[in-house]
Order: sequence, then structure tokens, then C-alpha cells
Amino acid sequence: MPQLSRRNFLKLTGSGAAVGTLSLSPLSHAQQSTSQTAPGSTTLPYPRDVVAKLGELTVNDPLYFNYPDDRSPCVAIRKGREVKGGVGPDRDVVAYSTQCTHMGCPVNYDKEAETFKCPCHYSIFDPDNAGQMVIGQATENLPRIILEYDEAEDAILAVSVDGLIYGRQANII
Ligand code: FES
Repeated sequence: MPQLSRRNFLKLTGSGAAVGTLSLSPLSHAQQSTSQTAPGSTTLPYPRDVVAKLGELTVNDPLYFNYPDDRSPCVAIRKGREVKGGVGPDRDVVAYSTQCTHMGCPVNYDKEAETFKCPCHYSIFDPDNAGQMVIGQATENLPRIILEYDEAEDAILAVSVDGLIYGRQANII
């Protein structure tokens, strides 16, 4: 009886192609999953809302607003020095959701410590470092409101959110 080599067997059955397809398939699936489940990602467009004129922001004095809708409280802070993700001529303006990522309590801005503190279970977040969770019960950073600076209007605009706002399945609902 003639022997069938492994190479000829694969040619006859097309298994080589199947193996190749199988090895690619999980990778492309993982790539799709990553893009579809990124925190705060949405297929709907974010609004472009004016938060304030730059001149209305006082250094280290929080300005409260809502974004991307009226049920989502946020705060903008002009730090007076360049910070990570800051916008404006001095790259010093940042903004965050004020809903704690642990259980949604409203975080307070501590002007002396220059941190956000949650009164419920004492999580602390760093506005100078993209809302990084420093200590406490929360496991996620504060969602960062992505800002742009309109030089012609001297205005700070909110244009999207980096991170999932507490209690939501999508930031745009
Ligand atoms: S709700 Fe903020 S730490 Fe628990």
C-alpha cells in the first residue's frame, strides 16, 4: 500500500489552509474585542461643548459643568503649570468626571493637596496624572474629559471622554 506523506495529506485535505485560518482567526477576534470594549468607547459622536472661556478659569479653582449630558457631573481645573493631557496655551487645563469609579460618589477637589478625594470610601485621584487612582477602594482612574482649546474664541471645549463614566455601559446614552 502506498504511503501518503504528511505534505500530500495536507494538500489533499486542505488542512494546511484550515490551520492557517485558525491561527489567524483568534488574533483578529482579539483585536476586534479590544476596539469594541475600550472603556468609554462609543459609536455615537460626542458633543463639542464649550466648558468656559480660558479667562474664566482661576488657577486651582474648580469649575463644575456637565458632560457629555446633563446627568454627568464634571470639573475643570486650571493647574497653573503644564500637566499631563493639559490644554490651553500653558497646557495646564484638565477636566474629569466627578463620579468616583468605585461606587459613583461625587469626588471633591482638595485645593491644598491638589487631589480629588472621595468622601465615601476615601479613594484619592491625581488630576496632574490623567486622573490616576492613587489609593483607596476604586480600581479605575477617574474618567478624563478630553478637552480642546479654541484659540480664536479663547475657549476650552469638551470633545470626548477617556474612560467609562460610573454606572454606564456607554458614555453616550
Ligand atoms: S465610592 Fe468612592 S471610594 Fe467608594
